[in-house]
Amino acid sequence: MIPMNGFTREPEALRRDELGAVERVLRSGWYILGKEVEAFEAQWATLIGTRHAVGVGNGLDAIEIALRILGIGPGDEVVTTPMTAFASVLAIMRAGAQPVLADIDPRTALLSMESVRRCIGPKTRAVLPVHLYGRVDDLKAWRALCDDAGIHLVEDCAQSHLAAWSGTRAGAAGAVGAFSFYPTKNLGALGDGGALTTSDDDLAAKARQLRNYGQSARYHHPELGMNSRLDELQAALLRARLSVLEQFTQRRRAVARSYQAGIDNPRLRLLAAPTQESSHVHHLFVVLCDERDRLAEHLRARGVETLIHYPIPVHRQPPCAGVRRDPRGLENAERHGATCLSIPCHPQLTDAEVADVIRALNEFR
Ligand SMILES: Cc1ncc(COP(=O)(O)O)c(C=O)c1O
Repeated sequence: MIPMNGFTREPEALRRDELGAVERVLRSGWYILGKEVEAFEAQWATLIGTRHAVGVGNGLDAIEIALRILGIGPGDEVVTTPMTAFASVLAIMRAGAQPVLADIDPRTALLSMESVRRCIGPKTRAVLPVHLYGRVDDLKAWRALCDDAGIHLVEDCAQSHLAAWSGTRAGAAGAVGAFSFYPTKNLGALGDGGALTTSDDDLAAKARQLRNYGQSARYHHPELGMNSRLDELQAALLRARLSVLEQFTQRRRAVARSYQAGIDNPRLRLLAAPTQESSHVHHLFVVLCDERDRLAEHLRARGVETLIHYPIPVHRQPPCAGVRRDPRGLENAERHGATCLSIPCHPQLTDAEVADVIRALNEFR
């Protein structure tokens, strides 16, 4: 089977670095909020181009904390996309705010700016674009839209490590960026992990307080926080894995280029190829097909694993049944959810495997 992820095939040198990282932490005798987290935060902030990165427990918490440090909570609305991991919307609800769902642009599957404009109302405090599949849309335009409306731009960067628009990295365009380091992400830990990025000193300080029980100084709790700390072991492993992130990203791009050039079947559609300004990191490669389930079965029979991101748009999930949405409906998200199929796109794929996937796709009748 050509797998969706290739962890067991990763280079031996990376394994040695990871084992070295584990040993360093074990021998240090310090496991929570220490030097490894500090070092990783500094490296991540530099890479993203923000003054601060704050390590947290996971990507869900990163979004919740991002909203809470901006003072967003009960009575407030946050506009986002229904075509995302449920966590994006769950985080808004956990912050106590109401999600409002705008439709997607069918060419990219990213949030449609036109639809977002229709969704912004008097209670809207932020827009949360999700850089889905590793692609960022015009970050300058998102920033301008939010500035004009007097609301915050918070980026869900769970799938877009190192993606950029005209040189601005995902996570550096808005008030706060929220990252997940879930193992399958482009930069993944060996367990759960996440981070916020921001250039605002005050927001970073608030995030550090919130992630640690709302503690300002030892045993002083001016607010109700949570326990959401990136641990030393995961931070050390992330530092080891950072050393291959650029190289792995390049390989994802090469695989995606081969797919774009080689897939040629009138039964399949591809999302628009990235423009010059958009530096795509191809967390996932998605094909669209009206007979998606039959295509998945055809690929399985030819030894190609697939997944669906995401078969059920957020507004179809029971907890979101009543949420406010674009008055013109969420038709593009519906259609995308019914036709999208993710094919293997990871750094460990061989050229022969990529060719096999292309052949299998082109042979679908
Ligand atoms: C777009 C998006 N947002 C948020 C999350 C949540 O991240 P985590 O699983 O680390 O909580 C994920 C990961 O599943 C994601 O893909």
